[in-house]
Amino acid sequence: MRLLTEIPPAYTSRNMDHNDDPLRQDFSQEKLCPVLQLQPVRQPTPDVRRYAHFFNGEEPMQLLVDEDIDRYAFNHTSPEPDLLQALARRTQKEMHDPQMLTGRVEGRLLKLIVQLCRPRFILEVGTFTGYSALSMAEGLDDDGKIVTCEIDPAAQKVAREAFDASPFGDRIEIRMGPALDTVRNLESEVDLSFIDADKERYPTYYEEILSRTRRGGVLIFDNMLWSGRVVDPRDDTTRAIAALNETIARDERVENVLLTVRDGVQLVRKR
Ligand SMILES: C[S@@+](CC[C@H](N)C(=O)[O-])C[C@H]1O[C@@H](n2cnc3c(N)ncnc32)[C@H](O)[C@@H]1O
Repeated sequence: MRLLTEIPPAYTSRNMDHNDDPLRQDFSQEKLCPVLQLQPVRQPTPDVRRYAHFFNGEEPMQLLVDEDIDRYAFNHTSPEPDLLQALARRTQKEMHDPQMLTGRVEGRLLKLIVQLCRPRFILEVGTFTGYSALSMAEGLDDDGKIVTCEIDPAAQKVAREAFDASPFGDRIEIRMGPALDTVRNLESEVDLSFIDADKERYPTYYEEILSRTRRGGVLIFDNMLWSGRVVDPRDDTTRAIAALNETIARDERVENVLLTVRDGVQLVRKR
């Protein structure tokens, strides 16, 4: 894996100006960015193509599979509703770190899992602008409910507006404040959870949420391959994620599959 220092300065998150980014100009519809999955891009040179759009805070998010294969998967996945496409565009335009939004492939995966598992109570850690919550809400039965946790008022505002505009928005409740507090005060058993924030505390979320999950319930952790860094952890966040992958793989309370979708999706079922 190449290091952050090897990425051309023009493509680091600190100095990135989307309007100046040559990879975002002169688009054609055939060249959709596979991770943000909205911004068509000119084919970059091989040196930058794996890094150009994929940032995770200070770190670039690296595609786990070949870009052409990722694009193929995107093009052969059911499109999300217009409202979600508009939300992703708005997020791209207005928010810091818009790449945090899960996007089409993972969003459709979440909806499909919800449709298959038919949970009545979903917990989400990390609302951001509401894309993943709305994706899951679409798959819920009428009596299903989602509680989603967020600390950033700016993200909450965008999410709230998106929920208000959606026919599924009334199934979602945003709880502001540190997610661990919300988890510890949950009023009901969890059928399904999607954990997508506060990566350093993933091992704690795992234990806290697993103990509140019903037998047969599902936990889904995002970013569990962390751009591939988990194979050689060198920082606290990566070590926390790698430690949780180890725990889950050996935990007799659960069965799991670690999917190479987007940045790695841990799909866990409580026995
Ligand atoms: C990766 S984003 C979530 C993306 C979202 N699931 C989606 O698909 O659009 C993580 C979000 O979690 C929020 N967050 C970070 N730490 C948190 C915490 N301790 N409690 C609640 N929310 C937190 C951040 O403000 C951010 O909006």
